[in-house]
Amino acid sequence: MTAGNGNGATIAVYSVKGGVGKTTFAANLAWCSAVQGGRGTLLWDLDAAGGSAFLYGLEPQKAQLAEEVFAREQPATRLIQKTAYPGLDVLPADESIRALDAQLARIGKRKRLAKLTEELSADYPRIILDCPPVMNELSAQIVRAADLVIVPLPPSPLSARAFDLVVREISGNTKRHPPILPVLSMLDLRRALHKQAQEANPNWPSIPYASVVEQSAVHRQPVGALAPQSPAAQAFGRLWAAIEKKLDQRGG
Ligand SMILES: Nc1ncnc2c1ncn2[C@@H]1O[C@H](COP(=O)(O)OP(=O)(O)O)[C@@H](O)[C@H]1O
Ligand SMILES: [Mg+2]
Repeated sequence: MTAGNGNGATIAVYSVKGGVGKTTFAANLAWCSAVQGGRGTLLWDLDAAGGSAFLYGLEPQKAQLAEEVFAREQPATRLIQKTAYPGLDVLPADESIRALDAQLARIGKRKRLAKLTEELSADYPRIILDCPPVMNELSAQIVRAADLVIVPLPPSPLSARAFDLVVREISGNTKRHPPILPVLSMLDLRRALHKQAQEANPNWPSIPYASVVEQSAVHRQPVGALAPQSPAAQAFGRLWAAIEKKLDQRGG
């Protein structure tokens, strides 16, 4: 946690599942934080698949040094890249972190990631973690580092159960865990099951299914920059406002 360091916060976008919208959320929420919220923001890609940097048009680095950040052989600041948006930087993933879980277990420092985010919070009041869909030492470290965990959930009759599963996985792993916020992802209200999922969870924020989100991957721009008036961009803006409100409610 970045607590103790002023108003800094680390927000993890996490799920045990792939393809649910984690990278889309992380990349777009980071834009909201930097551009709408005006806070220096670091988007940290922890998934070797490397989607976050791609969405900002950054090219993969040939030197595979990301794992050295975790070994403390390389300062994170050396690998950070600027985006086209002021106040928004990316710490890209690369193939070297494919075995990050085993590496962290070997290093044996349970709070290695939390320490790294705490150090970075001096330069970045907001750190957004784009997480891989794993349940292991890495995800345990993510939970220890995060002030808030966002869980994207594709709407289905099982959404609530899927969320409970993630909560149970997280709370089984640690005594104290940060607040966990479920968000319906890729919501398409023309579909009956999606509508039912929303009605069953009326307090969950949602992000609509939208072609502009797919377009944003083609143009390699966040939806807020590509189509600021679109429902998807507006929904990310509202979600970010809700996140800031939740962070404000942190005790102490
Ligand atoms: N709201 C949305 N509307 C349309 N497509 C979406 C939306 N959210 C995500 N997608 C698409 O779904 C796919 C998986 O999303 P992604 O963010 O990569 O998931 P994850 O990081 O959880 O694996 C991507 O092709 C992405 O463009
Ligand atoms: Mg991803």
